[in-house]
Amino acid sequence: MRRMVAETRLDPADLILPAFVREGVSEPVPIGAMPGVVQHTRDTLRRAAVEALEAGVSGIMLFGVPEDEKKDGLGTAGTDPEGILQVAIRDVRAEVGDELVIMSDLCLDEYTDHGHCGVLDEDGRVDNDATLERYAEMAQVQADAGVHVVGPSGMMDGQVGVIRDALDTIGKEDVSVLAYTAKYSSAFYGPFREAVGSSLKGDRKTYQQDPANLRESLRELALDLEEGADMVMVKPAGPYLDVLAKVAEAVDVPVAAYQISGEYAMVEAAAEKGWIDREKAILETLTGIRRAGGRMILTYWATEAARMLAAGRR
Ligand code: PBG
Repeated sequence: MRRMVAETRLDPADLILPAFVREGVSEPVPIGAMPGVVQHTRDTLRRAAVEALEAGVSGIMLFGVPEDEKKDGLGTAGTDPEGILQVAIRDVRAEVGDELVIMSDLCLDEYTDHGHCGVLDEDGRVDNDATLERYAEMAQVQADAGVHVVGPSGMMDGQVGVIRDALDTIGKEDVSVLAYTAKYSSAFYGPFREAVGSSLKGDRKTYQQDPANLRESLRELALDLEEGADMVMVKPAGPYLDVLAKVAEAVDVPVAAYQISGEYAMVEAAAEKGWIDREKAILETLTGIRRAGGRMILTYWATEAARMLAAGRR
C-alpha cells in the first residue's frame, strides 16, 4: 500500500554519475575521503561509463585531473584539445555514443596552480571577465571533443551567456548548458578538493554564495535563464533542499541537484562505524532530493543506487 500511494518515486534515469579521470596513471587511485570513489584511469572510466549505462543511469559528469606539472596560472590544460578532460570525453563518447548523456565540468580550478576557478588579476583576485574568455574557449574544446552538456561550475557572473555564444559561434547549437545556478560556498566540498588534487589555499567566497542567502539564488536563476541556460542546478543538495524547492517551483526548465562529496562522505563514514544503515540512508537522501524537486540528481552513488532501485530495494 505504501508503495502504491508513494508521492515520490526514484528511477535510475533520475541519476547522473560524477566521475574523475586522472592523467598519467595506470591504476585507479582511491580517494581517501570518498571510500568507493576513485580517480579513474582512461580505461576504468570507460568501464564505469558502461556500467552506469547498464544500470540505467542517464548521464555522466566528467572531471579531469591533470598531471601536477601541467597546472599553471591560466589553467592551460583545460583548453588543450589533448588535455585529460577532452581526451576522456572522446573516450567515453566512443564507448557509449549517445546512449549516455556526457556532461563535463567547465571550470578552471582543476587546471590552475593556484586552485581558483578563474584567472587572477595583478592583486591576486579572481578576474571575472578575463575568466569568461577562458570559459568560452573551454566550452569550445569540450564541445569539439563531443560532450553533450557543459556544466559551468565556476560561478563567474555572465558565464552562461558567454558560453552559449561561444558554442553557437562554432555551430554547436545542440550542446546544452547546465547552469550551476545556486552554488554555495560550502564546507562539504572538502573531499572533492582531494579528489581533483586541488591546490587551493583560502576560499571561494568572492564567487560562491553565502549559505545564509535564498533570494540571491532566485536572482542568479533569473540571470541564468536570460543568458540561455537549458537546465539549472542547485549545489550542494542536502543542506539546500529549500533552495531546490523554490527553484523547482519557479522554472519550467529541468532542475538538477548535486549531492556533493561531503554529503557522500558523511553517510559512508557513519555507515562504516555501524551507526546507520548505509543503503537505507543513501535511498533516503536521494528520495529527499527528488521530493524537493530535483529532476536530475548528480550523486557518486548513481550506479549503485540505480541497481538498488532496479532490484526493488526501498
Ligand atoms: C568546481 C567544482 C567543485 C565541485 C564541483 N565542481 C568544487 C568547488 O567549488 O570547490 C564540488 C563537487 C563535490 O564536492 O562533490 N570545479
